Amino acid sequence: MKEIESKRVLIKKVLEESDKFVGQEGVLVCGWVRSLRKSKHCSFVVVNDGSTQNALQIVVDPAVANYEDISKMITGFCIRARGKMVASQGKGQTIEMVAEKIEIIGTVNDEYPLQKKATSLEFLREVAHLRARTNTISSVLRIRHALSFATHKFFGDRGFFYVHTPIVTASDCEGAGAMFRVTTLPPGDAADFSKDFYGKPTFLTVSGQLEAECLALGLGQVYTFGPTFRAENSNTPRHLSEFWMIEPEVAFCDLDDLAELASDYLQFLIGHVLDHYRPELEFLSTQNQNGDLISRLQAVRAAKFHRVSYTEAVQILEEAMNSKKQKFEFKVYWGCDLQTEHERYLTEKHFMGPVIVTDYPKEIKAFYMKENPDGKTVRAMDVLVPGVGEIIGGSQREDDHQKLVKRIQEMQLHEKDYWWYLDLRKFGGAPHAGFGLGLERAIMYVTGMTNIRDVIAFPRFSGSAEF
Ligand code: 4AD
Ligand code: MG
Repeated sequence: MKEIESKRVLIKKVLEESDKFVGQEGVLVCGWVRSLRKSKHCSFVVVNDGSTQNALQIVVDPAVANYEDISKMITGFCIRARGKMVASQGKGQTIEMVAEKIEIIGTVNDEYPLQKKATSLEFLREVAHLRARTNTISSVLRIRHALSFATHKFFGDRGFFYVHTPIVTASDCEGAGAMFRVTTLPPGDAADFSKDFYGKPTFLTVSGQLEAECLALGLGQVYTFGPTFRAENSNTPRHLSEFWMIEPEVAFCDLDDLAELASDYLQFLIGHVLDHYRPELEFLSTQNQNGDLISRLQAVRAAKFHRVSYTEAVQILEEAMNSKKQKFEFKVYWGCDLQTEHERYLTEKHFMGPVIVTDYPKEIKAFYMKENPDGKTVRAMDVLVPGVGEIIGGSQREDDHQKLVKRIQEMQLHEKDYWWYLDLRKFGGAPHAGFGLGLERAIMYVTGMTNIRDVIAFPRFSGSAEF
């Protein structure tokens, strides 16, 4: 390995700056063999290093040392190749490498699970430790990075501070009780939590919101970006028990400002991927009947999001149900929680694009949402998108101390646990609002992937914590 002295370059750089590279000798790349083809006079090795969707073709002349071994390589071999970059004769690529030296640094045998033949997404979940080498999963993971990076850019440029909220918590933000317990008590112990590590029952957080509110009422505009955990037993293509959430929280902000922030943010994310990850989107467009992926994203980037109240949304759904335009498994009525099928009807059939639904009945929403003057609904907002359903959930927060106490009691939460949260309303309170974007749902939307287990490297869901 010592004899190759030049510094490795990323294949992404070589392909994107091909003009600069053509004619250069001693260029060093490393990567995994995607395919190998032998002709009478030479071998063609297609290699990908993960830096981009596209691969680099390397032409290997029999005069190259160890040609015998090279020409016997199969998909999955790992190599280090040095050579001269030349303009490509073949179609589909502008530049290729003529090998000067190739070292085989990792071999595979015929037990390698990722042979060249198409492998289903279901099968790839069973070999999640290797699937980052596939076209589909690697492109999805690069877009995952893109959305994370664009998140920091978007909020950073707008003067938001990135804050870190606890993973271990004693309070249930969503009041849904679907929390994982954190304990050092020995198994089987009749739970005396006063003897537990923290002296009381603690859990993995379902949301950083409550702490983010504390910080927003000091720093003004903050956002969290962290893992969240929900022990709901929902075995669906849209739920994970460990997922990542981005939660901006803004002081001096009402629901209208928040809705605007949410659509600006989503459009920024989409724009960033359209501008910088075109090869990935083009590849994904060829998968899962995603043909219109790019034009769909372009349209969403430019269009104003639709906005309706929950009450209007229910009218639309009842209309569809009564006129037999649409059958629903779950009946729709004012007060019902919108199911995925309802959300999808609204975005896919009625509005045909993202829609922001506001002002839900307070009974179906969390305790912290600001009550409307009608006494029945709260200043909540869900952003729904085609193909996925709910992607963002948020609200203006109840800033009236009395009303919040009443709500906590009505919902039979322990007022004592929320003393610090209530203090925010006692001392220098201010109107404020925030939302949570599920990172995995956003990736599904942008990539057109239909199962959430394929947009996170190592998915966690009920019954599965492999890898
Ligand atoms: O609507 P949710 O439950 O809202 C909250 O947690 C608020 N505390 C957020 C806030 O106001 N700061 O969750 C927010 C988003 C959902 O819209 C969805 O995208 C995602 O988180 N989400 C999940 N993603 C994957 N798997 C699950 N089990 C999810 N549950 C929610
Ligand atoms: Mg929600």
